[in-house]
Amino acid sequence: MATSGSSGQGGDQGPSGGQAMWGGRFSAKPAEMMQAINVSIGFDKRLAAQDLAGSRAHAAMLAAQGIVSAADEAAIQDGLSRIEAEIAEGTFPFRDEFEDIHMNVEARLRELIGPAAGRLHTARSRNDQVALDFRMWVREACDRTVGQLQALQRSLLAQAEAHAETLMPGFTHLQPAQPVTFGHHLMAYVEMFGRDAGRFADARARMNECPLGAAALAGSPFPIDRHATASALGFDRPTANSLDSVSSRDFALEALAAGAICATHLSRLAEEIVVWMTPQFGFIRLSDAFTTGSSIMPQKKNPDAAELVRAKAGRMLAAFTQLAVVMKGLPLAYSKDMQEDKVPTFEAFDVLDLSIGAMTGMIGDLSANAGRMAAAAGAGFSTATDLADWLVRTLDMPFRDAHHVTGAAVKRAEQLGCDLADLSLDEMKALDPRIGEGVYEVLTPAASAASRKSYGGTAPDQVRSQIARWKDVLK
Ligand code: ARG
Repeated sequence: MATSGSSGQGGDQGPSGGQAMWGGRFSAKPAEMMQAINVSIGFDKRLAAQDLAGSRAHAAMLAAQGIVSAADEAAIQDGLSRIEAEIAEGTFPFRDEFEDIHMNVEARLRELIGPAAGRLHTARSRNDQVALDFRMWVREACDRTVGQLQALQRSLLAQAEAHAETLMPGFTHLQPAQPVTFGHHLMAYVEMFGRDAGRFADARARMNECPLGAAALAGSPFPIDRHATASALGFDRPTANSLDSVSSRDFALEALAAGAICATHLSRLAEEIVVWMTPQFGFIRLSDAFTTGSSIMPQKKNPDAAELVRAKAGRMLAAFTQLAVVMKGLPLAYSKDMQEDKVPTFEAFDVLDLSIGAMTGMIGDLSANAGRMAAAAGAGFSTATDLADWLVRTLDMPFRDAHHVTGAAVKRAEQLGCDLADLSLDEMKALDPRIGEGVYEVLTPAASAASRKSYGGTAPDQVRSQIARWKDVLK
């Protein structure tokens, strides 16, 4: 690190008269193209709040440790408050010439309070500063996302409760498989989004160590108190290796991985909404609030929001890939490559925010066509497994034989153009003479769903007990 002219302290700071802050050893200004590729203020201005919080904690610690005077600290804190106000009012001058958020804040501080500003960067480098700011930003993003996922889960729970008994076909291979309830289907997503929230919470717990005080890469010769700054900034502890502190971004990768997985879940639900809304399915309706029309086909009502949520998963996966590729093969410690960590991360969380918000809106908005769903639930011989199970239970048939007999029943019903439940008792007895009237009780979709009482099954009572459990979790 260059030692700058007036302050006499280590770090990037220096007088701002025309030279960059790190310009002590430089005699010429950077080429325009150099500035153009180097500048990051356009995007890292989003770290302003974190940067100010970090600087406040750092300044307080420097004063508490006797590294800067109480008077200088007071001036610094006052200047930082004024900067905070300027940012809130939208009057803060974000300037490209100062490269990034860290130097923009420091340059402005110097304009506001004079030379004391130069003492703020004592025992600190932009390397630990940016590692701190970014970590705090990602930590907040994780917390916010958990809250959004819980809101989504609540809206799914409300629909699931309303439709704990609403029958629909359960699919495998998108072919009718066995009847389930709509509530059960929606609760599958409550589970997925619960795990997603858990992944963000896990990532947060692991990232909650404070890199401030690692300085450029090797630590600081000043008697700093890293435990004090860590706790002031809400971290569990300081990071334990200064090289790792300034060069690790796996906290962001982990958050992006959680986001990418979450986006795949959102895209699956989005796809189902698209399919359910087609007139061919006709399972649900979305109101005008969550659909759009066509400029040429007046009859159209399109599920654009669902389609966009489905597509945005691509951006989430891309963000993870982008940062993983930036980090791959980077030697320790800091390299400027790492400045490229922010754009994909900010973008990913913006996309996730919109996607979860839109999905929460659509789930709250949708209305189910219970009649269509129930009719579809019984189609496609969806209770064939129930017939086979009945043969096993009632006639003590081995399941393989029961499967075969049921296959013959389906074939016969197909020939007659009717459902399994419409086969006469004579037709049934032709398959196996021991079959009696009782068989018809298991052939309705409602009976089929109600019979699946195993833990986590689709029986309405099971669905209701899972709803109750989640309501408790989300209280
Ligand atoms: N803008 C930089 C970044 O985002 C801050 C750290 C710069 N450090 C340095 N030694 N040039 O990574």
